Amino acid sequence: MAETSLFCQVNTLATGPADTAKKHVPVITIQGNAKVGQPFTVNIKVGEAPHGMENGHFIQFVDLYCGHIYISRVDFTAELNRPEVSLSVVLQHEGKRTLRAFSRCNLHGIWEGTKEVDVTK
Ligand SMILES: [Fe+2]
Repeated sequence: MAETSLFCQVNTLATGPADTAKKHVPVITIQGNAKVGQPFTVNIKVGEAPHGMENGHFIQFVDLYCGHIYISRVDFTAELNRPEVSLSVVLQHEGKRTLRAFSRCNLHGIWEGTKEVDVTK
């Protein structure tokens, strides 16, 4: 059953119920170093604990932002996907940036996970 209160906000590890957060907060990891204008790989896995992908309860998509700038969306299909993705990202400005990933569960709403990245020349 859908938890309606979770649909009224963007949920995080800090604000969501711990048991639910464990399965929904996107975990971002980076391969290698982020250099200005050079592609690097951003891995996003929904949840420290696996989230099921059954018809009726599944992760619908993941969005990736750098700060407030949209980068990508990946849609998922129940039964046919696991909510994990690797993206090739190119950032054009030097300095510390915050990667923000949002996952949406059809029963538990939107969840945000973040990762700080230092983009160097
Ligand atoms: Fe869920």
